[in-house]
Amino acid sequence: MSSETQSQPTDITTDLTAPAPTDTPASVTQNIYDSPAFFAAYSQLPRFTHGLDTAYEWPTMRALLGSTRGCDILDLGCGPGWFAEWAATNGAGVHGIDVSESMLDAARARAGYLRGVSFAKGDLANLDLKGEVGMRSWDIVHASLVLHYVEDLSAVYSAVRKVLSPGGRFVFSVEHPVVTAPLGEDVWRWDEKGDVYWPLSGYWDEGPRDREWLGVPGVRKWHRTVETYLNGLTEHGFVVRTVKEGWEGMNRKPGRERKGEGHRPYYLMVLAMVPGMDKLEREVLIQW
Ligand SMILES: C[S@@+](CC[C@H](N)C(=O)[O-])C[C@H]1O[C@@H](n2cnc3c(N)ncnc32)[C@H](O)[C@@H]1O
Repeated sequence: MSSETQSQPTDITTDLTAPAPTDTPASVTQNIYDSPAFFAAYSQLPRFTHGLDTAYEWPTMRALLGSTRGCDILDLGCGPGWFAEWAATNGAGVHGIDVSESMLDAARARAGYLRGVSFAKGDLANLDLKGEVGMRSWDIVHASLVLHYVEDLSAVYSAVRKVLSPGGRFVFSVEHPVVTAPLGEDVWRWDEKGDVYWPLSGYWDEGPRDREWLGVPGVRKWHRTVETYLNGLTEHGFVVRTVKEGWEGMNRKPGRERKGEGHRPYYLMVLAMVPGMDKLEREVLIQW
């Protein structure tokens, strides 16, 4: 199933373990993707080696993005550049930002040569969209599976809102709050009848979650509720247009004994818009 967090079910009576110890203070970006051990493991994942076609959520994200031809797109947490490559080869200009040098190297190797594509180092925890990037107004801001690494979501929303043009689209995905909520390690469980469970705990307890992932302990993600993700958007002047939690082709009835996305949502995907006419609508109006 998902390439992100999967583990073997354990007995439902197993005690939840305490979060893994970590040396990362709460307010500092961990930048785990520049840890050689973590990057070596992550770079084996299909979404790194084979790109968007292996990302379950991509068709849904593609639909949320809408028309991208001729658009200027800011890609937050661009990772290895598959999205930039896709967008540029489909007629968009893309500027990718990532905190990880390893990811930026991979992105530049993949898509840096394409017309209209650029990449730069930037930390969403301290998003400084000044200079050329901040002066321009962007048609689309795309943020795939990165916002759950950032503590201050409100600051990111505020920065994105400032640089999006009227009618601009903010399209993002995060690990679903049902996935990030549990306070312990990976928590698939089963009972004596063979039914499998994803026990929900700690949902209202927003904050860091440090877990082992890809063999590396203490990988930090930030849990927040669905209402925090969505209400924050409206508080910053966005209109929430579409919210998706599953994807086409997902096995919604996997059988009671199989862990997987049929038992719980895995991604939260959102299209939010800045009020106003976008570039295409303005062009149509001018032609009339
Ligand atoms: C799960 S990967 C997703 C990469 C790509 N967007 C994708 O969908 O395949 C998360 C990415 O977010 C980046 N990232 C994590 N925290 C960040 C931060 N504070 N600022 C900028 N990028 C960050 C990581 O370096 C990594 O490239």
